[in-house]
Amino acid sequence: MQKKIFKEIINSIKEKKTLQSIDNNIIEEKLVEHFKKNSGDLKKLLALETINKKNKIYKKTVKTLRDYFNKTYGIFNLEPNRQKLFEQLKKTPSNEKILIELLKTHKSTLERIPNLNKFYEIIFSVTKDPKTILDLGCGLNPLTYQWMFLDNVNYTAVEINKADVLLLNEYFKIAKIKGVALKADLNKYSNTKKYNVVFAFKVLDMIDKKQVERLITNLNYKWFVATFSTKTIKNKAMNLPYRRYLQLMLGRLNIKYKTIKIGDEIIYLIRK
Ligand SMILES: C[S@@+](CC[C@H](N)C(=O)[O-])C[C@H]1O[C@@H](n2cnc3c(N)ncnc32)[C@H](O)[C@@H]1O
Repeated sequence: MQKKIFKEIINSIKEKKTLQSIDNNIIEEKLVEHFKKNSGDLKKLLALETINKKNKIYKKTVKTLRDYFNKTYGIFNLEPNRQKLFEQLKKTPSNEKILIELLKTHKSTLERIPNLNKFYEIIFSVTKDPKTILDLGCGLNPLTYQWMFLDNVNYTAVEINKADVLLLNEYFKIAKIKGVALKADLNKYSNTKKYNVVFAFKVLDMIDKKQVERLITNLNYKWFVATFSTKTIKNKAMNLPYRRYLQLMLGRLNIKYKTIKIGDEIIYLIRK
């Protein structure tokens, strides 16, 4: 019965279009975590003779999980026609116009378009041109590779959204980039390989602060480049755009960093 309930709840969550490409295993893990904290709810659902989608607890569970995934994941995907654009790109993989249209289909890269050239120029003037990049919670950012003006980079991209991962792996192939995209949850992600630069663009606010500290401490890198939006979800300027928690954490860990502001993004350049 428990398996059946989980399956039904996952299906209900995914009835929301923007959440359809999340991997079932990832939702299931979150569901297990949710029921660990709310074990009474699971007991009550198991006590029902049949699954009733109108049941209060069933509805509350679906809503809680949808809210979580919507915040961390669903709101970024703006364009259902992404695949069509990608088919066009396959014919001319370096076509800037199509790449820009694709970048517009993800909220974060859309916001970065006006500053793309300057963005990487500023970052790499500090970190120097990397040969290895790990891009955490990458969204569609690897599609900006052309604007990085780098040669022969080994690119590893990590993202929770299965659809993004599939698209990126195809892109790496057609654009002949030595890259791989992996589906993973950063709250559990670890990797012992050494990277010149780690990107964590606009993603750290979305994961548990303890896990942010774990990633910054345990990953093997020269530079960890974290960025944050200076705007709220409602597109208003933030009163306190600098992330105090991160600054306190870096101070406590005795890790040096500097910040640069560009467009609506604050860049933290963190040196291990
Ligand atoms: C605000 S977007 C930033 C995307 C990209 N880094 C950029 O700046 O263009 C956050 C991205 O992180 C992904 N994400 C959110 N939570 C995640 C997690 N726990 N593990 C992996 N990726 C996650 C989302 O799916 C989304 O694509």
